[in-house]
Amino acid sequence: MLILGVESSCDETAVSVVRDGREVLADEILSQVDIHAVYGGVVPEIASRCHIEAVAGLATAAIQKAGITKSDIDAVAVTYAPGLIGALLVGVNFAKAAAFSLGKPLVPVHHLRGHIAANYIASPELEPPFLCLVISGGHSLIVDVRGYTDMRIIGSTRDDAAGECFDKSARVLGLGYPGGAQIDELAKSGDEKKYSLPRAKIEGSEFDMSFSGLKTAVINLAHNAKQKGEELDRPSLAAAISAAVSDTLVPRTMLAARRLGRKKIAIAGGVAANSRIRADFKRAAEKEGAELYFPPLKLCGDNASMIAAQGYYEYLAGRRAGMELNAYATLPISENGEVK
Ligand code: KG4
Ligand code: ZN
Repeated sequence: MLILGVESSCDETAVSVVRDGREVLADEILSQVDIHAVYGGVVPEIASRCHIEAVAGLATAAIQKAGITKSDIDAVAVTYAPGLIGALLVGVNFAKAAAFSLGKPLVPVHHLRGHIAANYIASPELEPPFLCLVISGGHSLIVDVRGYTDMRIIGSTRDDAAGECFDKSARVLGLGYPGGAQIDELAKSGDEKKYSLPRAKIEGSEFDMSFSGLKTAVINLAHNAKQKGEELDRPSLAAAISAAVSDTLVPRTMLAARRLGRKKIAIAGGVAANSRIRADFKRAAEKEGAELYFPPLKLCGDNASMIAAQGYYEYLAGRRAGMELNAYATLPISENGEVK
């Protein structure tokens, strides 16, 4: 079964063709990162406009590269939540038009479910149930993936997402936007012990996380250094930030897996590209005798292959949308009901 996937929730326009949820035939993506970098963050109006300009051309290219014709497509899957509403609407409307004109079903896909599904492409043997840590620019969730479309949130951040913490810290360090990958790179030559940063715990909920204290600590540290005229050891601060984020994420996920009896653990989302987090997870999973899954770097960030992959399983579960499909800026990952 061939699914055309469409993704436009933030600053990447992407269209993919994926067979049976696992095999990528084409993966077209146009990133707007350079355009938004000038402003130090994503400008929603500009994002929407760029999506409009890019989406149709990417779809044509994806179909061509997949070596198929339009009529070979069996269904159109699209990210409809969560994300920037104007940006989402571009993909949703394009997908509606494509599904309508082809006379094929339209399948709505939750963006974070898509991130999880990137693991199905990377690891063809991976099947639910498993535990997944979803860490992106806007979300940090520990999710029990009980079935392909049956998700339960075990823990989540109470304030900032892990990616947000990386991006805000990167700004303080004078790095570009989004700065997660640059902090990761800089950290490799630093000494994480040089700076002491907090690891927040939430009283009474051991699987929830908080990153705003860490973000504030980094801002204060940089501010104080500036006032005293001291030079920041940027690589060491980057290493300390990476260590603090990883120390918040990895033990919680491992504890949740133990508690739920899950022996398979996956990580997903843009921040899952972080080398420190990946290394800490590898070590922890080995110690625990758990199986660890993570997507290749290319599939960690936003892409349409993951949307087509999850779209396949949503399709099998009977999920369909009509021409009245709307986009939603927020929506729980566990939501499985009718789309209004
Ligand atoms: O999943 P994603 O591409 O978009 C959202 O759905 O939000 O995640 C983007 C986030 C950004 O915050 C970016 O800084 C972060 O992923 N990121 C990283 C790395 N690569 C991307 N954070 C830490 N280390 C990395 N190597
Ligand atoms: Zn994402």
